[in-house]
Formats: sequence, C-alpha cells, structure tokens
Amino acid sequence: MASLQTSSSWGFRNAIYWFLLATAAVRAQNSTDNLKYVDQLIGSANGGNVFPGATLPYGMAKAVADVDSGSNQGGFTTEGGRVTGFSSMHDSGTGGSPSLGTFPFFPSLPCAGDDVNRCVFPKVRRALHYKEESVKASPGYFSLALENGIEAEMTTSAHTSLFRFKFPTGGSNGTSPLILLDLTDLSNSRQDNATIELDGDTGRMKGSARFNPSFGVGTWVGYFCADFSSTGGMRDNGIWVNSRADASVKSMKINRGINGGGPLPGGGFVRFTSSPSDGVLARMGISLISVDQACASAEAEIPDFDFAGTHKVAEEAWRAKLSPISIDSTGVETSLVTNFYSGIYRTMVNPQNYTGENPKWTSSEPYFDSFYCLWDSFRSQLPFLTILDPVAVQEMVRSLIDTYDHEGWLPDCRMSTCKGYTQGGSNADVVLADAYVKGLKGGIDWDKGYEAVVKDAEVEPYLWSVEGRGGLDSWKSLGYIPTEDFDYKGFGTVTRSVSRTLEYAYNDFCIAQMADGLGKTADKEKYIDRSGNWKNLFYKDQQSFLFDGTDTGFKGFFQGRYANGTWHTQNPLWCSTIDPDNSRVCSLQNNGQETFESSLWEYGFYVPHDQASLITLYGGPEAFVSRLNYLHDRNITYIGNEPSFLTVYQYHWAGRPALSAERVHFYIPRYFSPTNAGLPGNDDSGAMGSFVAFSMMGIFPTPGTNTYLITPPFFPTITITSPLTNKTATIRAVNFDPTYKNIYIQSASLDGKNYTKSWIGHEFFREGGELLLTLGSQESSWGKGAGDLPPSLGEGGNGTVGKRWEGLGSGMLWG
Ligand SMILES: *[C@@H]1O[C@H](CO)[C@@H](O)[C@H](O)[C@H]1NC(C)=O
Ligand SMILES: *[C@@H]1O[C@H](CO)[C@@H](O)[C@H](O)[C@H]1NC(C)=O
Ligand SMILES: *[C@@H]1O[C@H](CO)[C@@H](O)[C@H](O)[C@H]1NC(C)=O
Ligand SMILES: *[C@@H]1O[C@H](CO)[C@@H](O)[C@H](O)[C@H]1NC(C)=O
Ligand SMILES: *[C@@H]1O[C@H](CO)[C@@H](O)[C@H](O)[C@H]1NC(C)=O
Ligand SMILES: *[C@@H]1O[C@H](CO)[C@@H](O)[C@H](O)[C@H]1NC(C)=O
Ligand SMILES: *[C@@H]1O[C@H](CO)[C@@H](O)[C@H](O)[C@H]1NC(C)=O
Ligand SMILES: *[C@@H]1O[C@H](CO)[C@@H](O)[C@H](O)[C@H]1NC(C)=O
Ligand SMILES: *[C@@H]1O[C@H](CO)[C@@H](O)[C@H](O)[C@H]1NC(C)=O
Repeated sequence: MASLQTSSSWGFRNAIYWFLLATAAVRAQNSTDNLKYVDQLIGSANGGNVFPGATLPYGMAKAVADVDSGSNQGGFTTEGGRVTGFSSMHDSGTGGSPSLGTFPFFPSLPCAGDDVNRCVFPKVRRALHYKEESVKASPGYFSLALENGIEAEMTTSAHTSLFRFKFPTGGSNGTSPLILLDLTDLSNSRQDNATIELDGDTGRMKGSARFNPSFGVGTWVGYFCADFSSTGGMRDNGIWVNSRADASVKSMKINRGINGGGPLPGGGFVRFTSSPSDGVLARMGISLISVDQACASAEAEIPDFDFAGTHKVAEEAWRAKLSPISIDSTGVETSLVTNFYSGIYRTMVNPQNYTGENPKWTSSEPYFDSFYCLWDSFRSQLPFLTILDPVAVQEMVRSLIDTYDHEGWLPDCRMSTCKGYTQGGSNADVVLADAYVKGLKGGIDWDKGYEAVVKDAEVEPYLWSVEGRGGLDSWKSLGYIPTEDFDYKGFGTVTRSVSRTLEYAYNDFCIAQMADGLGKTADKEKYIDRSGNWKNLFYKDQQSFLFDGTDTGFKGFFQGRYANGTWHTQNPLWCSTIDPDNSRVCSLQNNGQETFESSLWEYGFYVPHDQASLITLYGGPEAFVSRLNYLHDRNITYIGNEPSFLTVYQYHWAGRPALSAERVHFYIPRYFSPTNAGLPGNDDSGAMGSFVAFSMMGIFPTPGTNTYLITPPFFPTITITSPLTNKTATIRAVNFDPTYKNIYIQSASLDGKNYTKSWIGHEFFREGGELLLTLGSQESSWGKGAGDLPPSLGEGGNGTVGKRWEGLGSGMLWG
C-alpha cells in the first residue's frame, strides 16, 4: 500500500528518481555466500520505510536505532534524523503510522555533576544525531555511533534483542554511564496504566504497556523484561518521570498524560560504576503474553549475554534462508547482485512469526502477524516465498485460516495482533488460492480454508473496513459495487467502487480455482460467473483527455456506475502519477475516489484472470499493446505502488513477451537501485523486494493461478532448489549479455525439448528441470503462437488470443 496519510508514500507518487550505475562498475564474483550481497539500508530513505536493523527471518525481535525524521515507519532512516532510542519491535516498509518501536533503551554519558537529575530523560530532549559514516547493517546486526561518542551495536534472537553500548572514557566520561528504558513507542500511542518494576539488586526491569496498532483498530499490550551486564558493575537504579529520577523508587504505574500532549515520559534507569572498554550489555526480552514469558524467552535465547554468538546464529539463519537460490553472476554488475539478494532478504523480514505469542486465542496452529498488508503481498511477495520458503508459507496460510477460525474472518491486513484496514478486496482469497493451486499441504486444512474464502464472498461483515467485503447485496443483485452504494448491513468507506468491483471479481475467480480443485462444481460455476462482473463497469464511450486537453485517443474505460445504472464521471487520469492536483485524495479517506491509490487508467488493466477478454474489449492485441505502452510511456502508472506490478508483464497475453522484457529493463535498475534512496515507494513488507527478485529471475507470477510469465533473467544462470522436494530448477540463458542488449528470447527448451509457451507452471519449481532460454538482440516469434499465450479465462476475439482455459474440471493446475 501507499500510506493512508497523504503526507507519506502517496506524496512520493510524483517524485521519480533516476539512478545511474556508472559508479558501480565492479564485477561480481561467483560466490555461494549470498549474505554478503545483502544491503539492509536499501530503502532507508525516500519513503522506502524499510526496517534496516537486526532480526532473524520473520523474527519478532527487531532491533534498530529509532530516529525522529519523517518517514521513520521502520524505526531508522538515513534521512538525517536524530536518534531517540534503541527499540526491539518494528515492521518493515509500511505506510500508516510508524509501527511499534516499543520500550526503547537510551544510553547516556555520566550525568552532569554526577547528579542523576541532570541527565536528560524525555525523548524530545535527549535525541542526538548519529555519525553518518558509522552506520553498519548486515543480517542479524546493526550499529552506529552517536555524536557524543557512544557506540551502539545490536543483534537479536527470536524474541530477544541484545545491545552493546560502548561509552567514551576520557576524563569524567569514564565514570558512571547511564542507560534508561522508556515506556514509549514510535507513534506515542501508549495508553494509560503502563507499569515498570525494578529489581534493585540486579537492575532487572519488567513491565508492560498498551499501545495502538499503526494501521488498524483496537489496542494491544506489550511486555518486556530487561537485564544488564557489565564488567564495570552496577552503581544504582531507579525510576524516572518527566525530567526527574530517583534511585530509591523501584516501581511505577504511569498515566497517559493529562494535557493531551502525548504520553508522559517515564521509565527506569540503571547506572554503572565505570565505562568499561568492553561496553555494557543490555538484553531486552519481549512478549505479547506476559512479563514472565518475556523473561523466560530472554533467559532461554541469550542466557549469557553472548553478543558474538547470538550474532553468528542470526547470520547462519539468514544464510540458510538464502541458500536454496544461487546464481552464476559472471560479468554482471555487483550492484545488480546486491539488488537481487537484498530484495530477497526483505521478503523474509515481515510477516513475523508470533507463534506462541498470540494473546487472543489458544491454538496449536502457527500464528503469524504483520501481514501488512495482504493487498501488497499477494501480488508477488507471498508467491515468491512459495518458491523459496514454502514451509513458511504453509505456516502463514495455517495462521490465516486459524485467524478466520477464531475471529470469524480472514484478515486483509494485520499488525500487532490487531485488525488492519482493508484496501480493496478480500485478498486473503488470492493468497489461499495461490498456495492451493501450487499444491501446498503441510497440515493446511483446505476445507476450512475454502469455508473462509466463501464467507468473504457471501457474508457481509458489520465492519468491512477491516475484514471481508462490503456491498455484497449489490454485488449479488447488480453484479457490481455501485458508486455511492446503499449498504445498511456493513460499514466501511463507501468509495473505490471501481477498484473494489475489479478486486472482488478477481477474488471470486480465485475462489473458483479452489472450488475446482475441491470438486465443488456448482460453486466453481457460480464464482466463475461472478468473476466476470468486471465487465459490468466497462463504459465503452468513456474518453480520456490529458490535463492540457489533448485527447489520449483511447476510448472505453472502466467507470463507476450508480445503482440505477447511470455512469459516474471520474476522469480516467485522476489519481494517476500525472494528476497535477496533489490535493486529490485517493486512499481510504471518506472523500476519496472510485479507485484506490491509482487511476481508472491503471485499473483498466486489472483483470488478471481474463486478459483474453480484456484484450478483445480493447480492440485486439495491437490496440491493447498501444494502450499498455501509453500507460507506461506517459508515466500514468507508477512502479512504486503495487497495482503497477503486473502491468509490466501484461504484454505476454498480447503475444508480445519481448515487450514485457523491455519494460522490466526500463524499470530495473532505473527505479530500483541498491542505494539508500533506491526504492520508488514503500517497500511494503518486501513487496518491492519481491518484484525485483522475481523480475531478475526472469519469471513473474499471476497469483491465484499456476502461471509464471517468462522473461530473460538478469544473470546467466539461476538455480533454485525446492526446500520441499530437494529438486532443482535451473534457468539458463544462452547468449547472455551483461549489457542487456540481448533481452529477447529466440527459442527455449525445457529439459531438452523445445518450449514455445511464454509461461511455465509451478511444477517446474516443485519437480525441477532445466529451462534454457536462447537470447538475441531482436524480438522473435517465440511465445507468440496462439497456443503459447499464458492462460486466460475468456475466449479471445480474433483468433490470435485463443482459449487458454483448458476446462476447470480437469484439475486446478492450468496447463
Ligand atoms: C566526554 O566525551 C565527549 C564526547 O566524546 C567529549 O566531547 C568530552 O570531551 C569528553 N569529556 C572528557 C572530560 O573527556
Ligand atoms: C487504568 O486503570 C484504571 C484503574 O484500574 C482503570 O479504571 C482504567 O480503565 C485503566 N485504563 C486503561 C487504558 O487500561
Ligand atoms: C559459478 O556458479 C555456477 C552456477 O552456480 C557454477 O556452476 C559454477 O561452477 C560457478 N563457477 C565458479 C568459478 O565458481
Ligand atoms: C515459527 O515459530 C515456531 C515457534 O518458535 C517455530 O516452530 C517455527 O518453525 C517458526 N516458523 C518459521 C517459518 O520460521
Ligand atoms: C441515477 O442516480 C444518479 C445518482 O443519484 C443520478 O444523478 C441520476 O440522475 C440517476 N439517473 C436516472 C436515470 O435516474
Ligand atoms: C487481430 O489480431 C491482429 C494480429 O495481432 C491485429 O493486427 C488485428 O488488429 C486484430 N483485430 C482485431 C479486430 O482485434
Ligand atoms: C516520465 O517520467 C520520466 C522521469 O521523471 C521523465 O524523464 C519522462 O520525460 C516522463 N515522460 C513523460 C511523457 O512525461
Ligand atoms: C532434502 O535434503 C535434506 C538434506 O539432505 C534432507 O534432510 C531431506 O530429507 C530431503 N528432503 C526430501 C523431501 O528429499
Ligand atoms: C526446436 O528448436 C530449434 C531451434 O529453434 C529448431 O531448429 C527445431 O526445428 C525445433 N524442433 C522442433 C521439433 O520443433
């Protein structure tokens, strides 16, 4: 997603950044240690909002320095903010409010005059700049130095962070440094009655506080257990509130604040007798269940404050996660290899594995959180993990189904155990169908999963702003979501009638896919039928003029429609990248448009399941291609937001896979460069990362189906070994050219046999094989034949786009 706040990533929609690779002429070595190509700082500026700190794959503990710059949704940015603390929970790449950042530590030089009341406690006053050149981030590790000379390093296990603070030792600096713990979070959302309790002998601090989620409803409670270790020995400890502290007080329950200025500053502190050169270690155990569980996790996971050992375990965990994929990068710019592995890394930061930490219900199923949001991740992130880490996806799907089981609905967005806002359709339907058609099992209860997606399609929730779909009466009776719908059964923002109609249609197609595989023939027919509802919003006479009045020359667009059948009049270019009116609101606001975070122009391509019929509607393949070219060439679409992803590849359905390849190289690395400001928008929990990773591999998914579209990879060879079957899929490019002039597939073979289809099914990754792509510098006839186009539901119009739907009854695997 782009952010709900117009000031966040949506504000970046007109800011297009160009990066040249001229400085990165170093050539990559062929190496199996993929870790060294991970740059966690990619996306740490320019609204990427990534979490660049220390974490395990899907880890709950995420340690980093928090800064006070704008766009600090992931905690730290390289945008020149000041450090306000070092906290242990974060999200990555999200819009919404800054996420989590709970219970930060902050280290301090000895208090002036050796008086604890002359140390600076509240975060607005204590914030300090960091030394720019000091920032270091690598898998399982983050460090920087503050302007006052204090160095902070951090690493994590699953539910525990370990910080090492080193203090300058000259003169009086060598005495009595202090570390405080603050009962706060990044968004200042702490509610009333936060508590802290100190053990005077050991300095252990325990407590809890209630907070708001960053893009959702309700509240959640975090628990902590902090311990310290220093060869210098402890001097004293106590409580601080506002700007005052006292070592004789060991516990506090603190109010939210009385004058509306945000939560009162308060927490605990410890002082040490000296500033030892090996630093002071601070361990932070976190839990969503209890302080006892926070302490137990900390003691079990990092029993003896072993920083190097904890770091090494984290590094090994990441090495193992990246190991199924390897590339021969001979001749390719190192920057592209970095781009590739960093993108992959970011797909495994969120969602977070909160198994054993779910306070809302007791269950033996796994529990994942920070699905932030499925609207972003169904398109390529979760499909990417289905290839690289299918075991994790099985657990995620089980968690989604278990959430349905206990909360009544599949989530569309979820963070810190709260329901997040729905942006369009019920896109968990796509996630489940995608896992289903790709054959994931692993203990998934598919009957219950099917029950859950059918509920999305049939039953309207009271609050469809956070689950399910709205307007289902209209959907069933009229076959579209009307503009200004009359809906008295459930509630949500009554806008986005066009994008919701398109998403619901696609969601219903995905349900049909599952119905087919589960042998529910009547359901299959019903949902296939409803998946055609997108046609009801096609207004054939709709024209489109640029903002200077020039006719784009294209006629026929999706348009909003009232319940009485009369067409609405949204300009097809409103909310596009070239919309000059930056005050127009295009997100979840009550006065938003009929399209979410994008234009009628871009949603004009959003029929992932029936490109053949769409091509016919637009006048055939040639007309379709020129419309798609116009979308990209005129900057109407913006690659920094997820609805654009599939448009890069839709040329495949028009028999022009060569043009998809050209578009991929137009966007990568121009809009995705391995620099701090190198992402075009919010990374959205790794959505952007997965777009880069898939594109560079030369395949792209159409989620909810078994189809991957083929383009030439960015490397001579890519091999992926399925963690489920141990079988290896190899994509090899013949005539590979690292300057990317040969980006046109001339011919292909699969396991030695000629292969003319422009797409391949998931069995390639599950069963292994070798896909050999012979490249050249000109478009060829490969992938153009009527039988070679990717699957699509409808009949093609003029014989060039033939029927690809081989009959749902023959099993859910297309092709
Ligand atoms: C303490 O450290 C700070 C930051 O490095 C330095 O500016 C200051 O001079 C030091 N004080 C003494 C007494 O050495
Ligand atoms: C704080 O505690 C008081 C007294 O127990 C209680 O009435 C109030 O509801 C609590 N507030 C919150 C936000 O937990
Ligand atoms: C480079 O990588 C490829 C593919 O993994 C492998 O076959 C080849 O042996 C490697 N070459 C070197 C020199 O390491
Ligand atoms: C999630 O956490 C549970 C409990 O620690 C663990 O058993 C499981 O393997 C984890 N799953 C993944 C995908 O890491
Ligand atoms: C249909 O409803 C719209 C919105 O209320 C209204 O503007 C329009 O005049 C109506 N059309 C007809 C034919 O009644
Ligand atoms: C049919 O396909 C051909 C070949 O791509 C194209 O030239 C022609 O414009 C199409 N005609 C129609 C009516 O779509
Ligand atoms: C599209 O945006 C790019 C980058 O800002 C710019 O160079 C190009 O001229 C734009 N194209 C059009 C047609 O405005
Ligand atoms: C895959 O290989 C690993 C390591 O050799 C082995 O433990 C595992 O059982 C294998 N799995 C399958 C499905 O063959
Ligand atoms: C396979 O492809 C090669 C190279 O494009 C071509 O020469 C050959 O005729 C093809 N064979 C068949 C059976 O189509």
